[in-house]
Amino acid sequence: MKALILFSSRDGQTREIASYIANQLKEHQECELMNILHASTINWSQYDRVLIGASIRYGHFHPQLNKFVKQNLAELQQRPSGFFSVNLTARKAEKRSPQTNAYTRKFLLQSPWAPDCCAVFAGALRYPRYGFFDRMMIQLIMRMTGGETDTRKEVEYTDWDQVSRFTHEFAGLNSKSR
Ligand SMILES: Cc1cc2nc3c(=O)[nH]c(=O)nc-3n(C[C@H](O)[C@H](O)[C@H](O)COP(=O)(O)O)c2cc1C
Repeated sequence: MKALILFSSRDGQTREIASYIANQLKEHQECELMNILHASTINWSQYDRVLIGASIRYGHFHPQLNKFVKQNLAELQQRPSGFFSVNLTARKAEKRSPQTNAYTRKFLLQSPWAPDCCAVFAGALRYPRYGFFDRMMIQLIMRMTGGETDTRKEVEYTDWDQVSRFTHEFAGLNSKSR
């Protein structure tokens, strides 16, 4: 049986985190990484646990996240499952838990899925890779929230030790009786 890791990523940071988790999990069991946008038909019988990671853009997860959860709710509930969100608000330690990160708290409150473990990771700020509008908007948000405003910079805030600890938690989830 394999672990399935699904990601929703716009600029690649969530994909990188998912891939890092997959590489660590591979020490315990087989693992498959999949973009949630390309996960319309999943052969669930192959997987004994599932993890979903998704990033925030302008206050929202990609709409496919909720759609996927609705369409696959029974399968998600039948096996140990985890969720992680990635955003820049979480660069501040006090906004890096499911309870204190507004996007994550809201998602968990409105979602019919109750993952068995959940984490919030700080993402990356990569000004040079953004188009003009996004660069200006992010700079404005950073100015308002006391963050990096130099648009020549790329900053990765992800705490990889936190990602490792979460991977252990996810790997240690007990299987469910179906
Ligand atoms: C256009 C744009 C909008 C963003 N909006 C938000 C936001 O509303 N709140 C937030 O905390 N982070 C926001 N971010 C930060 C992203 O969540 C962060 O860069 C994350 O690493 C992106 O992950 P991804 O590369 O997997 O998409 C935004 C980033 C961009 C480029």
